Amino acid sequence: MPKKDDIMVSTQTLEKTYEVGNSKLAVLKDINLQIPKAKFVVLCGPSGSGKTTLLNLIGGIDRPTKGKIVVAGQDLTMQDEDFLSDFRCNHVGFVFQAYNLVSTLTVAENVAFPMEWTQKPEKETEKRVEELLKTVGLEHRANHFPSQLSGGEQQRVAFARALANDPELILADEPTGNLDVKNAQKIVQVLQFLKSEGKTVIVSTHDLQIRELADMVFCLEDGRLVGNNE
Ligand SMILES: Nc1ncnc2c1ncn2[C@@H]1O[C@H](COP(=O)(O)OP(=O)(O)OP(=O)(O)O)[C@@H](O)[C@H]1O
Ligand SMILES: [Mg+2]
Repeated sequence: MPKKDDIMVSTQTLEKTYEVGNSKLAVLKDINLQIPKAKFVVLCGPSGSGKTTLLNLIGGIDRPTKGKIVVAGQDLTMQDEDFLSDFRCNHVGFVFQAYNLVSTLTVAENVAFPMEWTQKPEKETEKRVEELLKTVGLEHRANHFPSQLSGGEQQRVAFARALANDPELILADEPTGNLDVKNAQKIVQVLQFLKSEGKTVIVSTHDLQIRELADMVFCLEDGRLVGNNE
């Protein structure tokens, strides 16, 4: 049994039900999850099984309907939006399937964006952006706009942005879902680097190359987790 301080994500009888009009859709039914720090975790399950929903709960983007969720030592269960946005800024880097870059900002400005809330000196931010763009191999594209980049390149910028505040937890939602094999390979390299750095990474994916990196694999089926440690 890992000690409490060694746990990054812990959920108890976590439930999420969406209400649309008069009908209720129970997406997550009884999720009991323990993810130790520094693990590389793959989340799988068919389309519509609740992978994005679960990542959103872990990342403090959305709130559960029932149950308890503790992430990075913070109880997220009954928190308000101010608490959750602070939590996201300080603890989590999120990479979305659809990149979600700000189209009117350059690559460098997109990467610097999360650092604005932490009020770092400008020089420090510039240095960090340079370093992050080097990590994802895009230092030569710093002044380009997202529309001037390929999908794979945009996704690498999204990773650089997610890493800006050096989060202890990185959540990536099907990061290679829209990419061809060659571009996916570059994302796999970024993930490999994060694993080697000892970050806790949770990736929702069907990508077999990413699955090879996994210390733990969990699959969602009918709103429940079928887990195995690989
Ligand atoms: N905001 C919402 N309101 C109502 N229903 C929602 C909402 N978000 C998701 N759902 C529903 O919840 C279920 C789970 O959705 P979710 O996006 O978590 O699945 P997923 O496993 O990520 O699927 P995919 O592999 O296609 O990305 C789906 O049936 C979806 O229609
Ligand atoms: Mg999804």
